[in-house]
Amino acid sequence: MYRSHTCGELRPSHIGQTVTLSGWLQKSRDLGGMTFIDLRDRYGITQLAFNMEENAAICQEARKLGREFVLKIEGEVIERSSKNKNIPTGEIEIKVAKITVLNGSKTPPFTIEDETDGGEEIRAQYRYLDLRRTTIREKLLLRNKVALETRKYLDSQEFIDVETPVLIKSTPEGARDFVVPSRMNEGQFYALPQSPQTFKQLLMVSGFDRYYQIVKCFRDEDLRADRQPEFTQIDCEMAFVEQEDILNTFEGMIQHLFREVRGVELDAKFPRMTYAEAMEKYGSDKPDIRFALEFVNMNDVTKGKNFGIFDDAELVLAINAHDCAGYTRKQLDKLTDWVRRPQIGAKGLIYLKCNEDGTFKSSVDKFYSQEDLAEWAKTANAKAGDLLLLLSGDTDKVRKQMNELRLHMGDELGLRNPNVFKPLWVIDFPLLEWDEDSNRYHAMHHPFTSPKPEDMDLIDTDPGKVRANAYDLAMNGVELGGGSIRIHDRDVQSRMFDLLGFSKEEAEAQFGFLLSAFEYGAPPHGGLAFGLDRLVATMGGSDSIRDYIAFPKNNSGRDVMIDAPSPLNDEQMDELGLRLR
Ligand code: AMO
Repeated sequence: MYRSHTCGELRPSHIGQTVTLSGWLQKSRDLGGMTFIDLRDRYGITQLAFNMEENAAICQEARKLGREFVLKIEGEVIERSSKNKNIPTGEIEIKVAKITVLNGSKTPPFTIEDETDGGEEIRAQYRYLDLRRTTIREKLLLRNKVALETRKYLDSQEFIDVETPVLIKSTPEGARDFVVPSRMNEGQFYALPQSPQTFKQLLMVSGFDRYYQIVKCFRDEDLRADRQPEFTQIDCEMAFVEQEDILNTFEGMIQHLFREVRGVELDAKFPRMTYAEAMEKYGSDKPDIRFALEFVNMNDVTKGKNFGIFDDAELVLAINAHDCAGYTRKQLDKLTDWVRRPQIGAKGLIYLKCNEDGTFKSSVDKFYSQEDLAEWAKTANAKAGDLLLLLSGDTDKVRKQMNELRLHMGDELGLRNPNVFKPLWVIDFPLLEWDEDSNRYHAMHHPFTSPKPEDMDLIDTDPGKVRANAYDLAMNGVELGGGSIRIHDRDVQSRMFDLLGFSKEEAEAQFGFLLSAFEYGAPPHGGLAFGLDRLVATMGGSDSIRDYIAFPKNNSGRDVMIDAPSPLNDEQMDELGLRLR
């Protein structure tokens, strides 16, 4: 028997019992007459005590053991003289009678503690050791719980888990595909799914009615803190539904998850905002609404006073940083430098301080009188003590820049509390977006997204204005998920492919199977997918999804532990009929 109890289990009620524990040696302390070892397993840490006077032999044996040795010990549970209130087992220790070394260990390359001394690179290389750290383990336990509760909820709503293939044909989610060469079909390639989009629609045609899958997706795109080349979706599809049915069903799921996993009661009804409003007020399709700092259009009060930069700008925007008029010259210079960084790209930052004495101080008061500046303050609803920050330029650019500045100020002013969760449905996305490079329209969501019936007339006259039955769920500035009502009519689908610049032959070659399925009684349907990694990271209060994935890739898409990707040997290349250029 390796263990009678776990290392997180023993309490004062066990005092006097003889127990067997197994685990890893977290650390040992040698205090002359006494030696203490912390023994760790998944469930917690238990202190082992060795007394030189009572049992010199075993004490000496204990002193030879190194960090991360795997031990089995037997001994008696005794009361601890100096109790540790910080851990659940802190009132007891084990007076050890017997140690068995189950395995030794090299000295690990970093300390296996919450605050480790290991840098990111070395921890990635030894991820199996990093995973021993409590903080990381807890993140994976959170993930497990979220996945489990997702299944429970969806099962209670009659969703059926159906697996879909991984070796498929390219899917149109807008990123590059990862491809796999076929040995049996030389010169031909599978693509890994960017999502199971077409399959879940086919399952609706097959009558499954409610589908879900917790599924790996693959996208070859530039990586960020919230993007991995392989990630996991909670992918769902429903038949005979309208947008309202979908939003309600998944609002219920997100509420369920937060309630069961975090003990947090979210808004009874998630707020909704159109894409147009989100862009106008926050310059983002995933606004963080934990705090206000909403954009104010300053065009009317800033133009026509001979300040060229504002006069020439398409849009002048302000945000009102409440109670920040006390910002020093140095702080404002720092903010200006911040917006001028190439990642943000603003040319400069104009400020207006609303002084406590009712006067105004601005970086451009050469051009604007006190009365003009009072108008600024009025427009932005600023009171004495407030600080307005203004950016100007072309609409899309200045909105993007102001979004960054708003989030930055939110961080700086401590308005982005990771324990506050603010969901927001963003609805009425545009159907299409214009791509300057290829000089044509792209589907903003994907080509199967249905236009709003009331906007159908615009398809031929002003396609850029057509809105889609598409929606995203944003939370705390993160896009947690998105989806749409689909086109289920072959003619509308063909028209959509036309609009996107696919020739009949191209559409047939790429999506013939779907178009043909639509000729055999496709029900009205729609769905959405949540990013599980992002959902769990947000629930854990983190921006980065990497810690919530057991074996993640680094920023260059590498797994440095297994050293992938790596070259194939000549034999494999030959067999696949491949040659490197
Ligand atoms: P979409 O492309 O919006 O929709 O993806 C759905 C959700 O998946 C997550 N996500 C990612 N997470 C981590 N790393 C990535 N590289 C990554 N890319 C996306 C996001 C996103 O909201 N088939 C459609 C869904 C549908 O229409 O039903 C789709 O895949 O959280």
